[in-house]
Amino acid sequence: MGGVLPLSLLLLVAAAQRAVAVSDDVLYQRTLPLAQLVRSAMLGSIRASWEQGVAASALLEFDYPAFSLFGAHPFHMDTSSPANAILPQSVIQLAASAVARQGDDGRLSQLVGDGNDAAALDGAAAGPAVLIGAWKPHPTRISYWQNAAIAQLNYVLNTAPRTSTGAISHRADAKQYWSDGVFMGPPFIAQYGAIVGQQGLLQIAFDQCRLYRNALMHDGPTGRLWGHIYSDDTKTFFDGGLWATGNAWAALGMLHVATAIEKSQFANNMRGQQGALIAWIHEVLDGTFKAVTNFGLVPNYISQTQSTFGDASASSALAAVAYRAATLWPDSFGTNYTDAAASIRGNIIDRLDPELGIVRPVVDPITWGATGPLSTEAQAFFLMMMSAWRDWISAQS
Ligand SMILES: *[C@@H]1O[C@H](CO)[C@@H](O)[C@H](O)[C@H]1NC(C)=O
Repeated sequence: MGGVLPLSLLLLVAAAQRAVAVSDDVLYQRTLPLAQLVRSAMLGSIRASWEQGVAASALLEFDYPAFSLFGAHPFHMDTSSPANAILPQSVIQLAASAVARQGDDGRLSQLVGDGNDAAALDGAAAGPAVLIGAWKPHPTRISYWQNAAIAQLNYVLNTAPRTSTGAISHRADAKQYWSDGVFMGPPFIAQYGAIVGQQGLLQIAFDQCRLYRNALMHDGPTGRLWGHIYSDDTKTFFDGGLWATGNAWAALGMLHVATAIEKSQFANNMRGQQGALIAWIHEVLDGTFKAVTNFGLVPNYISQTQSTFGDASASSALAAVAYRAATLWPDSFGTNYTDAAASIRGNIIDRLDPELGIVRPVVDPITWGATGPLSTEAQAFFLMMMSAWRDWISAQS
């Protein structure tokens, strides 16, 4: 239809658009009490190293948006502003426990139960929270946090095994790529680089995303997606299945690295890397959103005949990525991404346990083919989805 719309029709369209915006805002406010319950169920859960890290990341976005990577000036906050003069307590509290349990080799959140993880990268997931203690306005213990962050950085850069391509192995005792690792290590390395002003660290974070994608990505029925685990020791996939949560970890990790690059002083030097990351986030969202089936959620494994239940855990994380990407790069991520995220979000909220705030149904984080009763990472992903939705809503007005 060409030409000019009649004024009455224009007013109607404008009113409808306003109604949509208002109702999203109202819906967000109505969902907040439930999100608080999801938050306390997350904090009530016993956590492994990577769960401590992702929980701290989720709290940062949910409780203290100005301090998060998605805030206006994550690496050079104006500390004279009263809004920034607060202590991001809940995040620092989780970081404190991660440092109290830091292993001798530098990995955070290790001294639990029998001792160190078999994972090389999982501990670093709490690294960004430790950086908040080290470099954001914080009256005490600065060197305590900085030493912890330096030891963790040293481990991932210099101690963890490397694969034949130079990728930092996800495992401490073998050379393996796990899609999960893209969230655990690279965002910490990138944020460290942005804070201390070292472009080389941002480049390493980018290269790690690239090397992991090269090793894991393959064709699936809905496009190219990431397989879960590839062994560089045996040159075979341990789990070549397109695990939805693994794809979600990869997309979240790349989102954090891309955002760190964009908000760093090196954004102009790194346009090419930035564009590649945006394309790779696109790839994951396209392949996973096209696979949405059971209960309107992304299936636990895409392209398999087994374990295809709709997984609220991966789905929350992917919806969070879609809202963030549409807010940061609206030219690349149109309304079809936020429409898909909104549909997923509604389906997840409908199925949430209203008594204990438990997100369901979710994959068991350590038995990838089965559903489990409680997933800390799913609780965190839900809070990331809420936070990304909140920030997308304010960007629309
Ligand atoms: C959104 O639309 C674009 C442009 O038509 C298309 O390339 C992309 O695959 C779509 N993505 C989703 C998730 O629907």
